[in-house]
Amino acid sequence: MMNSQPNLERAVEALRACLELVVFTGAGISAESGIATYRDKLTGLWAQYQPEALETAKTFKENPALIWGWYLWRRAQFARAEPNAAHFAINRLASPTRKVAIVTQNIDDLHERSGSLDVIHLHGSLTTPKCFACHRPADLTAEQLVTPPTGGPVEPPRCKRCNGKMRPAIVWYGEDLPHGAWKSASSKVKACDVLISVGTSGVVMPAAELPKIALSSGATVIHVNTQDVALGEPNELLLLGRATETLSMLANLI
Ligand code: APR
Repeated sequence: MMNSQPNLERAVEALRACLELVVFTGAGISAESGIATYRDKLTGLWAQYQPEALETAKTFKENPALIWGWYLWRRAQFARAEPNAAHFAINRLASPTRKVAIVTQNIDDLHERSGSLDVIHLHGSLTTPKCFACHRPADLTAEQLVTPPTGGPVEPPRCKRCNGKMRPAIVWYGEDLPHGAWKSASSKVKACDVLISVGTSGVVMPAAELPKIALSSGATVIHVNTQDVALGEPNELLLLGRATETLSMLANLI
């Protein structure tokens, strides 16, 4: 899947002149680490499950064991996965003059495990569960986080302070983003020269607003995706291809 030369040249030129870079990532960046995306036909999670049936506070209240078991299974999947060349290439985009911040919609910790430091999780993370009732994060023992070999429902552990049920500290449908995360993400995006949007379908709000915020703040937006997700704005470039190959190529060229 070859990229149009002018697009690639313009992307390299914009990155070479860039001092403040934001890399905005979605499930597509972890796809090559073996973690299913959400909306890819057939392979995406939502091709197999109803998101509303698994990612809402309502279903957690109705069936906490099903939802807790589902996230233990996903945690185990993330733990088996390794960061890929795309995660590592992002770190190579940084230089003494170019600062890189990562804003991710992903709930896995592959950016951190690739050595990235400045990572904002807009949709939370599966690493530290919290109490459904008092919202305090809780340190659970390794035993409490083990997925039963058959997968399936597992009764969530209880909060030591209020005896509430533990839930994953991620953003479910209908819930607000962590205030701090959105505030710092949008201010970094308003201040950036270039935003690279990697592996996101751009359908989930408010996260999908970020590339538009960057464009309206005068930045160049570079989309890296296996599908055409561009908005058709002048300062926008589409690099069609897999995240691993395309981000590695950019890191080699700048
Ligand atoms: N390289 C680059 N892009 C890829 C690759 C790859 N190897 N594989 C898939 N993609 C692209 C797809 O073309 C698609 O545009 O990644 C995108 C994945 O889109 P989604 O599955 O919709 O994931 P995302 O955009 O991160 O979803 C946003 O939706 O369900 C919620 O909270 C969940 O954070 C998630 C949010």
